[in-house]
Amino acid sequence: RERPIIAIDGPAGAGKSTLAAHLARRFGFLNLETGAMYRALALKAIENDYDFDEEAPLMALAAQTRITLEPQLDGNRVLLDGMDVSRRIRETDVTSAASKVSVHPHLRAWMVQEQRTLGEAGGVVMEGRDIGTAVFPDAEVKIFLDAAPEVRGSRRYRQAAPRSPALEATREQNSARQTSDPVTAEQQRLDEEVILRELKDRDYRDRNRAESPLRPAADAVILDSTAMTLDEVLLQAEKIVRSHL
Ligand code: C5P
Repeated sequence: RERPIIAIDGPAGAGKSTLAAHLARRFGFLNLETGAMYRALALKAIENDYDFDEEAPLMALAAQTRITLEPQLDGNRVLLDGMDVSRRIRETDVTSAASKVSVHPHLRAWMVQEQRTLGEAGGVVMEGRDIGTAVFPDAEVKIFLDAAPEVRGSRRYRQAAPRSPALEATREQNSARQTSDPVTAEQQRLDEEVILRELKDRDYRDRNRAESPLRPAADAVILDSTAMTLDEVLLQAEKIVRSHL
């Protein structure tokens, strides 16, 4: 391989996508968000009423599915059978379904195969949960980006709050307030709670599944961003990459 592979793994909300996009721009690599592939398949499963717990039908579905990642400057444009689903796959129902669909071992093997094909030429920043451990155990650079759950939750809240359908739904349940009303402190606390719970559920499934559970590769550099600013994380990661190339 002439050009290197940079593997970025870590739990939900640690800032992997932001970091991956930054490093890709900085070093002139393509960035590939593997989570988007699980999300795209999960969306197709939702649309066709599949049971997320049944692996065989999901495998059959995967075999008839074309998922394309188009690297852009700030992330990936994601095509599901030719349709742009980039926005839709970020919604909470898909997020939760992707996390359930991704526990199945054969399905993971299928995804890993696709991801190897996409990345094997090198010159890529590949981001996910198992890139350094399963997809490219021989990646030249491996970064495991972590942060305390509460910090990841509140970063997610600030990022997602204005347009999260799940939050709108729970807000409607919690009060009769109009969505145009200013968010009260109490409402914000409830919203953050919903996001944190969802994040912890996903972490739990990712860390405890039988097949390639989320964990740092033995040779990964662990970057804990709990007490770091975004700029600090980006600079630190650039240093790590430079020292490995
Ligand atoms: O990274 P993102 O949040 O988009 O990933 C969605 C879900 O897909 C994760 O919660 C995780 O369960 C799964 N995933 C995975 N392996 C990857 C990438 C994502 O299991 N390499």
